[in-house]
Amino acid sequence: MRGSSIVDRALGRGHRSNPPRPDLSHNIILYLEGITVSFDGFRALNALNLYIEAGELRCIIGPNGAGKTTMMDVITGKTRPDEGSAWFGQTIDLLAMKEPEIAAAGIGRKFQKPTVFGSHTVFENLELAMAGDKSVWKILFAKLSAEQLARIDSVLETIGLKDLRSQLAGSLSHGQKQWLEIGMLLMQDPQLLLVDEPVAGMTPQETEKTAELLVSLAGQRSVVVVEHDMDFVRSIARTVTVLHEGSVLAEGPIDQVQNDPKVVEVYLGE
Ligand SMILES: Nc1ncnc2c1ncn2[C@@H]1O[C@H](COP(=O)(O)OP(=O)(O)OP(=O)(O)O)[C@@H](O)[C@H]1O
Ligand SMILES: [Mg+2]
Repeated sequence: MRGSSIVDRALGRGHRSNPPRPDLSHNIILYLEGITVSFDGFRALNALNLYIEAGELRCIIGPNGAGKTTMMDVITGKTRPDEGSAWFGQTIDLLAMKEPEIAAAGIGRKFQKPTVFGSHTVFENLELAMAGDKSVWKILFAKLSAEQLARIDSVLETIGLKDLRSQLAGSLSHGQKQWLEIGMLLMQDPQLLLVDEPVAGMTPQETEKTAELLVSLAGQRSVVVVEHDMDFVRSIARTVTVLHEGSVLAEGPIDQVQNDPKVVEVYLGE
């Protein structure tokens, strides 16, 4: 990538000139159909079908090894499936795109381990995450436009770190770092946000705040959350999808899914 820094690569920059935006005319933001991923003959995903609506908050649960992270790897272009199709809205073929192009088209992914820049302030982290092809040096020393400042302010408000804007990111609590990283993703205004195990290692208070944050983020965009903590899932989920052995085992409202004999069997067998 021409002139791109570690930060640019970490944030998936470098392909920002007029990225396509998803066509949501059928109210579906993500189509995964017949997705199969094999590792040495083992099917981590097995003819997986998944549809996510525009603006919805979906929780994905399932035992260890069910294929949840692999599914996110396929959506973000990290792993190529052997079979199947993956569309972002009606027109964007994810399987024809590279990882940075997918990020630029509006799919943001939060990994479990926070990757904030510890020796920069909360504010600077958001500044660095702002869309654009500039180098870190230029971003930090350029004068921000009123619009850019307003955008950072609004994200600080959303993630609840307004009062900590001048604090070094390295000194934040685990939960605060996770929120900052979500904020960094929000700076790029993703239409689909993928979050893998957001509350692992959080205090109960942080977990509760994270639930509120994720609920508030849905609506304007779609949010897909993978999480093992069932109390947390119960507190945010509308629709829950249960993955098992690389396919959808059950899908529906949380009460229905939790009482489904197939689901009970899979979890008891863990
Ligand atoms: N790069 C890889 N090479 C070989 N096998 C892999 C690879 N990535 C994942 N797997 C295997 O694929 C299966 C699905 O893994 P995946 O990480 O998607 O599960 P998961 O549902 O996210 O599990 P967890 O809840 O533990 O995070 C597992 O059996 C895993 O060992
Ligand atoms: Mg996983």
